[in-house]
Amino acid sequence: MSLRLALVGDGRMSRAIAALAPAEGHRVVTVIAGEENVGGAALTATRLAGVDVALEFTTPTAAPGNLLRLAALRVPTVTGTTGWLDRLPEVQAAVTGHRAALLHAANFSVGVQLFLRAARALAAEFAGRPAFGAWIEETHHAQKLDAPSGTARALAAALRAGDPARAFPVTSIRAGHVPGIHSVAYDSPHETIRLTHEARGREAFAAGALAAAAWLVGREGVYTFDQMLFGEAP
Ligand SMILES: NC(=O)c1ccc[n+]([C@@H]2O[C@H](COP(=O)([O-])OP(=O)(O)OC[C@H]3O[C@@H](n4cnc5c(N)ncnc54)[C@H](OP(=O)(O)O)[C@@H]3O)[C@@H](O)[C@H]2O)c1
Repeated sequence: MSLRLALVGDGRMSRAIAALAPAEGHRVVTVIAGEENVGGAALTATRLAGVDVALEFTTPTAAPGNLLRLAALRVPTVTGTTGWLDRLPEVQAAVTGHRAALLHAANFSVGVQLFLRAARALAAEFAGRPAFGAWIEETHHAQKLDAPSGTARALAAALRAGDPARAFPVTSIRAGHVPGIHSVAYDSPHETIRLTHEARGREAFAAGALAAAAWLVGREGVYTFDQMLFGEAP
C-alpha cells in the first residue's frame, strides 16, 4: 500500500521516517515543523488535504494539542511521542467522538515489543523470590526531554503484570547520543541476571511506525502497537 504521509515534527524521528518512507513505497507530502505549529495552528484541512496518515513525533507538551486537532480533522494518526499519556483519556474521547483513528506507542521497535513480553515472563519466574532485588535502567541521548522514558514505563508495567507484588525502581541516564538502551536486572548476593534491549539506530522505530501507518488506514478508534502486533495488551 502506497501512502501519502504528513510528518508532524521535523526532529530526529521524523527525519528517520522520511529517509525510510520511499523504500517502503510511501511519499511524504508535507512536513509540519515546530515554529509554524504553535498550539497546532498549522494542522488545517487545507494543509492536510489528500494525506492518508499523519505521523506525529514531537514533544510531550505539543503532542496532545496536535492529536486533538488531527482527530477533529479525521486524519488517521500514528504517534510515537512519549511523556503525554496523562492526557490520553481526553485524546481518546476526541478520537472516538470524531470517529477518527489513532495508534500510539512509546516504542515502535518490534524487538522492544517482544522484549516486553519476555520481561513479563521473566518477572513471573522471579515472583516470590525475595532474595533477588530487581530494578530497571534506561539510557538515552542528552536531548531527550522525558524521564523515565515511555519504554521504561512500559517495561515497568510489563514486569508488574508478571509480578504484581514487586516494585521496579527506574534509573534514567541522559548522556551523549544513545538512541535507547533498556535493561531489567535481578540480583542476589551471588549472581546477576540481566535482560537488555539496545537500539543501534532509529531505523527500527521508523519501520514500525510506517507499518503502523499502513495498518491504521481504514480503521476507527484508538490502538496500541502491541494490539497491532499481537491482538492484545502485553
Ligand atoms: N515511539 C518510538 O518508537 C520513539 C522512538 C524515538 C523517539 N520517540 C519519541 O518521539 C518524540 C520525538 O523524538 P525525536 O527524537 O524526533 O525528538 P526531536 O529530535 O527533539 O524532535 C522533536 C521535534 O518536534 C518539534 N515540535 C515541537 N513542537 C511541535 C509542534 N507543536 N508541532 C510540530 N512539531 C513540533 C520540534 O521542533 P522545534 O525544535 O522547532 O521545537 C522538534 O523538531 C519524543 O517524545 C521521543 O521520546 C519515540
